[in-house]
Amino acid sequence: MITCSAPGKVYLFGEHAVVYGQSAICCAIDLRTRVQVAKHDSIIIESVLGTTGLDLEVHPYVSRVIEKMKGYEDIEGIRIQIDSELPVGSGLGSSAAVTVATIQALNQLYSCGLQLDDIANMGHAIEREVQGNASPTDTYVSTMGGVVLIPERRKLKDLDCQIVVGNTGKFSSTKELVSNVAKLRQEFPAIIDPILTNIGKMAHIAEEHVNSNDYETVGKLMNVNQGLLDSIGVGGAELSALVYAARNAGAISAKITGAGGGGCIVALTSKTNANAVAQAIKETGAEAILTRNTNEGVRLEP
Ligand code: PMV
Repeated sequence: MITCSAPGKVYLFGEHAVVYGQSAICCAIDLRTRVQVAKHDSIIIESVLGTTGLDLEVHPYVSRVIEKMKGYEDIEGIRIQIDSELPVGSGLGSSAAVTVATIQALNQLYSCGLQLDDIANMGHAIEREVQGNASPTDTYVSTMGGVVLIPERRKLKDLDCQIVVGNTGKFSSTKELVSNVAKLRQEFPAIIDPILTNIGKMAHIAEEHVNSNDYETVGKLMNVNQGLLDSIGVGGAELSALVYAARNAGAISAKITGAGGGGCIVALTSKTNANAVAQAIKETGAEAILTRNTNEGVRLEP
């Protein structure tokens, strides 16, 4: 029996802009999905979504991983148990984490010899098959961990501050939001293109401040990024309520993370202030999750 886990992620900068080739900064968070695999006489996949065999509807990511890994090893029967600290479908990279952790677990169980780059690439291919047009960001960050400048794939210094995630609990469709931004850009290219370019510039300016632990400056830029995300139509009343609750409780910064519309916000806070920020988010009726950046991507669990 083998257990592997992989982390979720938040965007400090650059969601949506990254779709147009701009840079983004993504940060692996210490909320993990654990996948336990053991040889068995049939295929069984167990998660909060139910217990199934190979099932592209209920377990599309894990089922595709098994199909792909059959190219390396004759997998006749396998029992896979999934257990996650990441809320599903909320922009925290839960699908990438389960995909990457399952690939590594089967890679270890059958000694397939896949390296981390192979795992990130296979994970991305699977996300594309399931979602249509997924960016490589989630699977890359979940595999490698840390804080990463995308698309350069440059690792920055780990964050030495607290991260508070606020979850609106409202469903958000990444596909729909990406398509709304595309429409707005088609209608007003002279306005929207510079906004996306400026978001990319922020990621580049922030790089050195992340590397020097200057979270006040990083936070100032994140708050500007939030304003620009609002301006391209991916905000919403529920998200703004969480952003302002966090800032009013003393967060260094607060912004949407991921596609927006619903889903989550990310706030950076000092170590002493994290509980107050989480409490302020909860008082709006939303879920608050305290976490930290992790440098550990996919890993074998003891
Ligand atoms: O909400 P998420 O975690 O799926 O992030 C979407 C990020 C976008 O930039 C909006 C789309 C993408 O594929 O990069």
